[in-house]
Amino acid sequence: MFLQILLVFSLISVTHAAIDPDYTAFVQCLVKNSSPGDKNMVSSIVYTPQNSSFASVLQAYIRNKRFNTSRTLKPTIIVTATKYSHVQSTVICAKNMGIQLKIRSGGHDYDGISYVSDEKFIVLDMFNFRKIDVDIESETVVVEAGAILGELYYKIWEKSNVHGFPAGVCLTVGVGGHLSGGGYGNMLRKFGLSVDHMIDAKIVDVKGRILDRRSMGEDLFWAIRGGGGASFGVILSYTIKLVKVPRVTTVFQVTRTLDENATDIVHRYQFVVDKLDDGLFVRLVLQPEDGKVERMKTVSATFMGMFLGGSTRLMRVMDKGFPELGLKKVDCLEMSWIRSSAWWDNIDNKRSVKELLFLRNSDGVNFLKRKSDYVQTPIPKEGLESMWRKLTELGKVGFVFNPYGGKMNEISSSATPFPHRAGNIYKIQYTANWHEEGPEADKIYMSQIRSLYSFMTPFVSKNPRGAYLNYRDLDIGVSNHGKDSYTQGKVYGQKYFGANFERLVKVKTAVDPDNFFRNEQSIPVKMQG
Ligand SMILES: Cc1cc2nc3c(=O)[nH]c(=O)nc-3n(C[C@H](O)[C@H](O)[C@H](O)COP(=O)(O)OP(=O)(O)OC[C@H]3O[C@@H](n4cnc5c(N)ncnc54)[C@H](O)[C@@H]3O)c2cc1C
Ligand SMILES: *[C@@H]1O[C@H](CO)[C@@H](O)[C@H](O)[C@H]1NC(C)=O
Ligand SMILES: *[C@@H]1O[C@H](CO)[C@@H](O)[C@H](O)[C@H]1NC(C)=O
Ligand SMILES: *[C@@H]1O[C@H](CO)[C@@H](O)[C@H](O)[C@H]1NC(C)=O
Repeated sequence: MFLQILLVFSLISVTHAAIDPDYTAFVQCLVKNSSPGDKNMVSSIVYTPQNSSFASVLQAYIRNKRFNTSRTLKPTIIVTATKYSHVQSTVICAKNMGIQLKIRSGGHDYDGISYVSDEKFIVLDMFNFRKIDVDIESETVVVEAGAILGELYYKIWEKSNVHGFPAGVCLTVGVGGHLSGGGYGNMLRKFGLSVDHMIDAKIVDVKGRILDRRSMGEDLFWAIRGGGGASFGVILSYTIKLVKVPRVTTVFQVTRTLDENATDIVHRYQFVVDKLDDGLFVRLVLQPEDGKVERMKTVSATFMGMFLGGSTRLMRVMDKGFPELGLKKVDCLEMSWIRSSAWWDNIDNKRSVKELLFLRNSDGVNFLKRKSDYVQTPIPKEGLESMWRKLTELGKVGFVFNPYGGKMNEISSSATPFPHRAGNIYKIQYTANWHEEGPEADKIYMSQIRSLYSFMTPFVSKNPRGAYLNYRDLDIGVSNHGKDSYTQGKVYGQKYFGANFERLVKVKTAVDPDNFFRNEQSIPVKMQG
């Protein structure tokens, strides 16, 4: 009833271009909660659909075209905070008004949950917070949530050519979501995840207080290192510890088709890729392709390598550990670590490294869907052959395999909420990208990727079937925040967090008992008794 009245109200207000009552109430609340010098600023950081720039502000950090349609429910308000106090008052005012708050940093969530909802909501946009303070003496960086990975890498590089940070491959990903959800990239086998190098954080809690590691306590600090920040508060910044990178790194990319023994090579890959030198990361991209014979589909296997060292040593590692790939020295490109970061994301791009690393919209936004799995026992050759048949039959979806092992084996599965450590050979990312507009295309690609996921059931981890939080996938379960929210949360929570789910629930219940910080896949509250 209340919602219906609201709906009618907002229809009327749109028709008459009257000021939206939520907007008025929200702005009044922000003014009341602002410091005297800041009250005039409020109206310049709050947007409603009636503001002419609302659409462009909303679209600026949409990274999946699936959620850039007229059918997508829009936020009632967007706050483009520029000071920490704006974040604090936004939390207080959204809570007072009983409106859901969505937090957005880089907007790369694969299912768009930082800027989409099916209930009335406010978007707190963090893109203005992009300070990055690098201190080489202590080998630490304080990085704000709205910075992107490319900027982080570049700022480190400006200060030191022998330091780096293990995080994602895609340079436009936001620090806020990425680091709170785990953070993996092509140095994972040497250094583990981003969260394994986190030493402090600043967060705005449900009471609007700014807490650091000491004042939030070790339980909450544990939770935001992989449990997803959005269940617990608004991350303002993280303090991270740098790692040492060599002056020369080597990258390669080689492709093998089925008639070049791809099946044998991929089969062998599964026995060696997690055991090679820790400094070597070999990603495998599997895609259906048009074959040489007309209308005959085949599968291509592309191996992308990152080695923390020179090509001579890489060749020794490969000749000894994975000769079946037949890597040659001419396939190898030696370059600095920073250049390799640009290479991995934009292999053919001719812009300068600095330009590439600071570009916020370099992706060329697509329609997309992702899903994830973990493989713990090598898939037999017949299994691989059945996968090739499935890929060619579907025709529009592919896989990316990302190897584990190395440092990942040394870190306990409860050290952070991210549970997928020893025992995993590689993670699968299922990929579907498309350009065709409209619900019909969405349906085709979505059903293809779901069909492939279902096909893979016998080959992947089970009880629970693992998934990676940063590869957000609402197919694996959602919460409606009603009386069954714990049971619902357990479904996706155990896939993302394994046995760590229960500890996350305890932390959540302690720090946000009224479940203000909620989203489709947030950690549920569990009351005693
Ligand atoms: C092109 C592309 C490439 C990718 N490559 C990689 C990769 O190499 N490695 C990898 O690990 N992942 C990768 N990802 C996934 C990426 O790590 C996640 O989507 C990550 O959550 C994005 O963070 P964001 O801030 O950009 O996203 P957002 O959409 O802004 O946020 C994602 C989630 O985090 C929450 N959140 C965001 N900011 C805050 C904050 N300040 N405080 C609290 N909660 C917050 C949001 O509410 C949402 O739930 C990739 C994604 C894309 C689209
Ligand atoms: C949005 O519109 C309101 C009402 O016209 C105005 O007061 C406010 O300044 C606008 N907000 C922005 C960010 O321009
Ligand atoms: C979203 O759609 C608008 C047109 O409605 C378009 O101008 C804009 O470029 C699109 N943005 C993204 C990120 O797809
Ligand atoms: C494929 O494998 C066979 C047998 O192992 C070998 O003789 C042949 O040279 C390989 N082909 C390629 C293209 O590597």
